Amino acid sequence: MPFNMYSFPKPLTLETTSEALWKTNDSHAPGDNGSVDFGKLMDPRPRQLESHHSLDERSLNDIISSGLSSPRPPRQLETVKSSECLEALLSPSIRTSVSTPREYHAFEPHPMIADAWEALRKSVVYFREKPVGTIAALDPTEDSLNYNQVFVRDFVPSALAFLMNGEPEIVKNFLLKALRLQSIEKRIDCFTLGEGVMPASFKVLHDPVRKTDTMIADFGESAIGRVAPVDSGFWWIILLRAYTKSTGDHTLADMADCQRGMRLILTLCLADGFDTFPTLLCADGCCMVDRRMGIYGYPIEIQSLFFMALRSAKSLMKPEGEGKEFLERIDKRLHALSFHMREYFWLDHVQLNNIYRFKTEEYSHTAVNKFNVIPDSIPDWIFDFLPLKGGFFIGNVSPARMDFRWFAIGNFMAILSSLATSEQASAIMDLMEERWEELVGDMPLKVSYPAMEGHEWRIVTGCDPKNTRWSYHNAGSWPVILWMLTAACIKAGRPQIARRAIEQVETRLSKDQWPEYYDGKLGRYVGKQARKFQTWSIAGYLVAKMMLEDPSHLGMIGLEEVKRMKPQLTRSASWTA
Ligand code: GLC
Repeated sequence: MPFNMYSFPKPLTLETTSEALWKTNDSHAPGDNGSVDFGKLMDPRPRQLESHHSLDERSLNDIISSGLSSPRPPRQLETVKSSECLEALLSPSIRTSVSTPREYHAFEPHPMIADAWEALRKSVVYFREKPVGTIAALDPTEDSLNYNQVFVRDFVPSALAFLMNGEPEIVKNFLLKALRLQSIEKRIDCFTLGEGVMPASFKVLHDPVRKTDTMIADFGESAIGRVAPVDSGFWWIILLRAYTKSTGDHTLADMADCQRGMRLILTLCLADGFDTFPTLLCADGCCMVDRRMGIYGYPIEIQSLFFMALRSAKSLMKPEGEGKEFLERIDKRLHALSFHMREYFWLDHVQLNNIYRFKTEEYSHTAVNKFNVIPDSIPDWIFDFLPLKGGFFIGNVSPARMDFRWFAIGNFMAILSSLATSEQASAIMDLMEERWEELVGDMPLKVSYPAMEGHEWRIVTGCDPKNTRWSYHNAGSWPVILWMLTAACIKAGRPQIARRAIEQVETRLSKDQWPEYYDGKLGRYVGKQARKFQTWSIAGYLVAKMMLEDPSHLGMIGLEEVKRMKPQLTRSASWTA
């Protein structure tokens, strides 16, 4: 093994609890003996300087498409601005294995990078001596609660960091373990959950006496409010594609079990029901925002992840047997979903003005106000917040209800999946620049904006003491979102925006011991109940740095725009199409 990721000889010991509900004792996941030579991913040659153009000056489309069209070659270095510290952007293990050209010695690596790798490696969780994920937080000062588990969504930035560093094994193991957990029968009281549901998290229990490891999973039954994670299955598919893109190893995705896993996830979201919209109907708290926050209905985060998972599955599913029918259903849904989102969730100055002038009680296929939104329900803040230049996908659209709040993850994932057209992606970037203080503040980045307070907070959150105004999910600032911002900025051709946010993060994140989130209008205060050494804050920073260093990494997580999915932007087109 070329890297030192296993330099922590003792497997992490996780505390035993009595809450074990579903167990798997199987250590021999299918495909564990796959014949891929991971060593070939390491490039023993010195990294080369390829050009003297800055990233800002280069054609980003070229950079992105180079990563999108083919598996990643062994690591190569795209040259970035001279003000960027090239060596600093290399992760420690690569630095030791590469003879660095002399010019680089003038630059000192940012000390946070070494800190971050050390902390990330400490967070690795082992199952029968194999790395299978990273623990959510390793805060020695706080009660661990469920932060001692491997969360599917939290592992994504860790996985990307490992893939970008040429260490795919942990990602493969994680994908296979999650798949194994998916296949367990999932019951809550007398009710059986859908076959395709992926766990929110899992925990490894080590029995030092019997020398056995056991894995237990949480599908939402232990979570506060008992909400199942809709995002987990989507992240699993997205990660499977990232792994495949990064390694060029199609054998994992081609395995019958992986193909079946994807079909089970898709069966849950492509099933016919009473829907009149192509968007996915969800319960409150079913994603990263995993407590009641008024995101029930059609939350933007889920719609963007749904779109991305559909597109990822499309690229991974084999067009044979059942796969063929799924591919047809995916195509139809993608078309309808992109039209719906671009048309009804998109808000800019012109669209806000249209909604402001909506008539209500329109009854016919020619209705302009299709969801019967009452203009009086538009909150005052949005009129001041929305600049003339810029726009974004709003939080939620359902009958007579538009949630105008900004949600960062949904918007950045919309850019990465090309749910946003290139014009919309640029408009989101314009908004970031225009509303820097509100959306980025001192410590990037606001998960949502603005905060709910007073009566609204009481009604919507159910008086949640963790989600008070400008804290946690209620417009708190989460460093993990930095990786999504960076990827979205590179895709939209605006890397300088990400660079500015990263510089801000570097002033404090490590000194503050990698908090989970920050509080306050400007995100200036370490969060009230924030864990320290939160793994996805650490991994998110590393991924952001590595992507700026080598923008072709974007190919793992970005999808190109498909022109044919562009809807005709006339407001009544859906009825005449
Ligand atoms: C919090 C977050 C959730 C995350 C978990 C573990 O509950 O809301 O998104 O997965 O912590 O870090």
